[in-house]
Amino acid sequence: MPAITLVGAQWGDEGKGKATDLVGNRVDYVVRYQGGNNAGHTVVIGDEKYALHLLPSGILSPDVVPVIANGVVIDPGVLFEELRGLRERGVDTENLLISANAHLIMPYHRALDKVSERFLGKGRIGTTGRGIGPTYADKISRVGVRVQDMFDPKILRKKIELTLNDKNQILTKVFNRRGLDAEQIIDEYLGYADMLRPYVADTSLVLNQALDEGKTVFLEGSQGTLLDIDHGTYPFVTSSSPTAGGACAGAGLGPTRISKVVGILKSYTTRVGSGPFPTELLDESGEWLRQHGGEYGVTTGRNRRCGWFDAAIARYATRINGITDIFLTKLDVLSGLDRIPVCVGYNVEGVRHDEIPLTQTEFHHATPIYEYLDGWDSDISHVRSFEELPKNAQAYVRTLEEMAGAPISAVGVGPGRDQTLELRSLV
Ligand code: GDP
Ligand code: IMO
Ligand code: MG
Repeated sequence: MPAITLVGAQWGDEGKGKATDLVGNRVDYVVRYQGGNNAGHTVVIGDEKYALHLLPSGILSPDVVPVIANGVVIDPGVLFEELRGLRERGVDTENLLISANAHLIMPYHRALDKVSERFLGKGRIGTTGRGIGPTYADKISRVGVRVQDMFDPKILRKKIELTLNDKNQILTKVFNRRGLDAEQIIDEYLGYADMLRPYVADTSLVLNQALDEGKTVFLEGSQGTLLDIDHGTYPFVTSSSPTAGGACAGAGLGPTRISKVVGILKSYTTRVGSGPFPTELLDESGEWLRQHGGEYGVTTGRNRRCGWFDAAIARYATRINGITDIFLTKLDVLSGLDRIPVCVGYNVEGVRHDEIPLTQTEFHHATPIYEYLDGWDSDISHVRSFEELPKNAQAYVRTLEEMAGAPISAVGVGPGRDQTLELRSLV
């Protein structure tokens, strides 16, 4: 049976939590393969609303095995807090599996994330301040601390002492901050070891065996294509690979295991943090989208920047990820508009670009070229089939499908579990 990857096709917050929840009763494993608690995935089940940061959204589906795979960075304090919060609400968290190879976010990573952002001033990335970038930097520099290191106190001590020596020099001499105490960190992390042990497994082996046995594995991306370290709007990106290729490395599955790539697109566009965003609306239309769409960050509470749908970005995401199916969310938010602008290309200093320009400099200077689609008046949040949608809403979906270059398999008309029109099965 197949592995299916879900990827954000814009700048994150497209509705990945909702999509994962929707398929939760049809899959056996839900896997986070990259990122950490920079993510904020919302799942609404009846009157209950859950915000998941580090745990896969599939943890809310009773028969799913949730997996935190090797590509994720884990802040153990946050992990146990999130698990505790879910248990208090009656969610069974016992079958969670965590890779021994996942890297740990350490207190010095959080400190460095915050202080380096402050020093960047106007040039800051607008990170979530959770230590994500510094943790991945240490992973690549081969000085990271992994989950398995917690089970060997000698190694843990050696790694923390060595690395902290270096980090404290930077914190004190470059940033003029107080250094951190190695003993305190060692104590804290050794304290997590026993709590973590029951969950730790060779997750790549487990997932490959599950696929051999005919089980279905759903790989839940966090962030989005335009935040990808290679394919996003660098340097205004996150420090991992949310794109479909990253799912294989981040979960330990071969590319031939993946049979479907679901790209999730919002019916308009949002972004949090700094960086280019050609269709951004800095006027009352942007505020209208923010209010109608409830566009406030799940993790940091920041206002999300809002703009119209960008077809060049959708097409780019289809290409980079090999998207086979699109889940278009938040169509209901656009109800009430006379006509809806859709960006079909860019003008960069008098030159038309149909695709994302080659350089960031050009992308920073790109102004959108719009086509205008007819809007619809009625509230569509109660609609339960595509045919019941107003004709103009149907036409909006079909036009976006053509522009994005992949079939739209599901349309979201509200945050609830039942507020999805599934045109063909997502899994
Ligand atoms: P994620 O990070 O991709 O999981 O997305 P977030 O949870 O950060 O942001 C998506 C927001 O949109 C959440 O508040 C969801 O409850 C909400 N949402 C998801 N799909 C729909 C939809 O089709 N319509 C509406 N109105 N809200 C939606
Ligand atoms: P989900 O999974 C939206 C953004 C931050 C910042 C940049 C780098 O909910 O879609 P980081 O802390 O990762 O080093 O910050 O990436 N960012 C997100 N934006 N949704 C997310 O996750 C994000 N995770 C990180 O705002 O611009
Ligand atoms: Mg989010």
